[in-house]
Amino acid sequence: MSETPNTIDDLLAEQRKFVPPPEFVANSLMVGTHLYEEAARDDEGFWARQAADLVTWDTEWDQICEWDLPYAKWFLGGRLNVSYNCLDRHVLAGAGDKVAIHWEGEPGDTRTITYAEMLDEVQRCANVLRSLGVSAGDRVNIYLPMIPEAAVAMLACARIGAVHSVVFGGFSSQALADRINDAEATLLITADGGYRRGEVFPLKPAADEALAMSSSVRNVLVVKRGGNPVEMLEGRDHWYHDMIEAADPVCPAEPFDAEQLLFLLYTSGTTGKPKGIMHTSGGYLTHVTFTHKYVFDLHPETDVYWCTADVGWVTGHSYIVYGPMSNGATQVMYEGVPNYPGNDRFWEIVEKYKVTILYTAPTAIRTFMKWGAQEPAKHDLSSLRLLGSVGEPINPEAWMWYHTYIGGGRCPVVDTWWQTETGGIMISPLPGATTTKPGSATFPLPGVTAELLDDAGERVDQGGGYLTLTRPWPGMLRGIWGDPDRYRETYWSRFPDRYFAGDGAKLDAEGYLWLLGRVDDVMNVSGHRISTTEVESALVSHPAVAEAAVVGANDPTTGQAIIAYVITRGGAEVTVEELRSHVATEIGAIAKPKAIFITPDLPKTRSGKIMRRLLRDVAEGRVMGDTSTLADSSIVDELQRRAAETPTED
Ligand code: PRX
Repeated sequence: MSETPNTIDDLLAEQRKFVPPPEFVANSLMVGTHLYEEAARDDEGFWARQAADLVTWDTEWDQICEWDLPYAKWFLGGRLNVSYNCLDRHVLAGAGDKVAIHWEGEPGDTRTITYAEMLDEVQRCANVLRSLGVSAGDRVNIYLPMIPEAAVAMLACARIGAVHSVVFGGFSSQALADRINDAEATLLITADGGYRRGEVFPLKPAADEALAMSSSVRNVLVVKRGGNPVEMLEGRDHWYHDMIEAADPVCPAEPFDAEQLLFLLYTSGTTGKPKGIMHTSGGYLTHVTFTHKYVFDLHPETDVYWCTADVGWVTGHSYIVYGPMSNGATQVMYEGVPNYPGNDRFWEIVEKYKVTILYTAPTAIRTFMKWGAQEPAKHDLSSLRLLGSVGEPINPEAWMWYHTYIGGGRCPVVDTWWQTETGGIMISPLPGATTTKPGSATFPLPGVTAELLDDAGERVDQGGGYLTLTRPWPGMLRGIWGDPDRYRETYWSRFPDRYFAGDGAKLDAEGYLWLLGRVDDVMNVSGHRISTTEVESALVSHPAVAEAAVVGANDPTTGQAIIAYVITRGGAEVTVEELRSHVATEIGAIAKPKAIFITPDLPKTRSGKIMRRLLRDVAEGRVMGDTSTLADSSIVDELQRRAAETPTED
């Protein structure tokens, strides 16, 4: 055992650097460092300037920020309408005919929706909500596939000050019921079904099951999408399209307080019931509008932006609906999976719509690596000029693959760190200004202050530590719905007066931040605190490996032993011994996995994050607990079978 274990060891060193390409810099919205300097002098003043420049207010605020730890309020006294900002102001400025959404259904059907059309439908929908008894402050649950009506429903709630709570369409009826009950929603917006992997998946039957477990919902609006048979309960269930057609097309945007609750979004903790994360209006809109504009260097006249997330996650809220629409962007929205009908569906879409900015997740990128570079090579991807990543640490090799095979070596890559709780991007390069390093989210954005702390709460200036945020920011969560104690306990108790994000990170000698995953996932091997992310990245840097998941399993000699699960690239051949030596070469013998299992798949949450808790259970031979949040639970049985069959190496 070493004497004083580091908070988290810093093992992997990445030397590659990418300066912003001159062609990109020439047209970039932000070059140089002036925004950072302005924000460092006065962060509140900086955010106030963004709020004034980027958002339209009915009444100006009289106080920028009230910081009553751990609660912040922004733009106090200010009034605005979020849907006005996302729609009306663009139409009033003459951009009514501009395409808001190029929608692509999974079967290949398409819809093109302009800002004027979007505004019309949102107003009608808002009137429908009102006619069904929804008023400001009421909660509306939304359980829809990736169809434009999801954005319409969210903006219609915003228009009348109602609070939406979107539940990902892949969640079960139980998950939906829990969220409806916690929020005491009075209205549910769902669909008959949607398309996924070439088939219709039913939603309304799951919604019916959920409603049997809840009592607050009085009305259900049902969008027709899947064409599957559904039962409609007389008096409670209404066809969306009938009501929209009959609705009054005018619903003026009424101003609401800047701190009006805009939405709840439930995120599951490692244990216990999901937390209803609360986001409000003025600060949130400022944060997502600013970050969407500058992180993606958005030129709304010419860019075609595509974020591949589902609206059921925060990425879909902030970077499909509110950020892009507030900025008047033209975007692509896609309903289905990346491998229907072929493994090149995403690249076909990029080519078809001439997408210029693509924002996706490392889990998708590693899947594309597994499928091989011949898939993107089938299409002309020359329209792309910027790539983004979110959701997990991106391994340097996955970053390089994205940069090389999707970005053609010419597109900056922005690795954006943030959370449901932060509302918007917090740590990310600004693509015209920041020299990037593959795998690093680089620096906090202007107006964001992050610091690493060690176990004792002392500041870490180089090496690994706990990622904390020291100052309030406008998109910050305003609490957990109905549970203030849990809010303090979860985010504000580990270190006094700071928000602790739950993530580990390291700072290199040049001040670049490298995210190391959730601290619950840090392993302790012979007294060394090793991040699962670093060992995974070392494995992924082997040419035969597409994806790796690493966990620490209890071990009588070393405390924990490193166990790795590896997916190979396109079925490449590699021995376990070769991979173990590769890790030893990349980061040192201490990080050599004790056992490596080659597997066809990994257990992931429905948003694509690896479920390391389950892998730990498998590695420690425990019977599995709750697998209901898994995207595909059969993979756990398969891993258990392999674990039983494969001897471990010492
Ligand atoms: O662990 C971090 C990881 O995702 C967590 C937040 O998850 P969620 O609330 O579902 O939001 C995902 C979309 C913002 C974080 O605590 N995470 C997110 N982005 C990154 C990341 N880890 C490393 N690098 C990122 N870019």
